[in-house]
Amino acid sequence: MTLTKLVYLEGERVYSRNGEYKWDTGKGRFVPSSLDGIKYGLEQLIAKGILCSSIWFCDAGAGDYRVVAISSALGIPSIGVEYDGALVQIGESNIRQLRSLGVINGAPLIVAQGNFKRDRTYKRNGSRFEEIGAFFNFINNDAKIARKIARQSPSGTWFVLETIAGIWKKEFTGLDYVDTIGADIKYGLCRDLQLYRKP
Ligand SMILES: C[S@@+](CC[C@H](N)C(=O)[O-])C[C@H]1O[C@@H](n2cnc3c(N)ncnc32)[C@H](O)[C@@H]1O
Repeated sequence: MTLTKLVYLEGERVYSRNGEYKWDTGKGRFVPSSLDGIKYGLEQLIAKGILCSSIWFCDAGAGDYRVVAISSALGIPSIGVEYDGALVQIGESNIRQLRSLGVINGAPLIVAQGNFKRDRTYKRNGSRFEEIGAFFNFINNDAKIARKIARQSPSGTWFVLETIAGIWKKEFTGLDYVDTIGADIKYGLCRDLQLYRKP
C-alpha cells in the first residue's frame, strides 16, 4: 500500500469519528475540507514543486488540523494555526491518534493556537512567520493572511486559497495570481485551489 493511501485511510478513520460538523468560531466559521480533496490537492502541490520537505507549510485557520495532519504525513514540515480552543483540542487529540498509528512520524508538525495575523502566535510555538514558504487558507479571512504575506514574507512565498469550484479568481494586492488547480470530483477535489505568489 502506498504512503498516501495509508494516510488517507487512517486519516479517514480518525477524522470520520467526528462526523459532519461545522460551527461559528471567534474568528469565522469552521467548515472542514474533504479529506479526499486535501489529499488530491496536496499531491498536486507536491507534483508542482510548490510543497516539498525543505519548506514549511502553514494552514492559516487550521480548524481541526486535518490539512496539516495530512501534509505532515506526506513529509512536509507543517504548522496549523487555529483561533478556536475547542478545535485545537480536537486537533491535538486527532493528531495524537495519527501519531500512535504511525501515520505521522517524520516531518515536524506544530499545532499552534492563536490569531494567524499576529507574529506572537508563530513565535510562541517556536516558528517565525517569515520562515514559512507556503500558506493555505479555506476562504476565512483570506484577505488578512494575504495582506500579511504581501507585507512580510520573502519573495517567492506561495498562498494557496481553497475556494468554491468555478468561482472567479481573487485579487490580492502585492501577490501575483499564478494558476488554479481545478476541482476534480473523480479524485475528490470538489473545490478549486487558487495559487498566488509573492513576486
Ligand atoms: C473554513 S475553516 C477551514 C479549516 C481547515 N483549514 C480545513 O480546510 O479543514 C476556517 C477556520 O479558520 C479559522 N480562522 C479564521 N480566521 C482566523 C484567524 N485570524 N486566526 C486563526 N484562525 C482563524 C476559523 O476559526 C475556522 O476554524
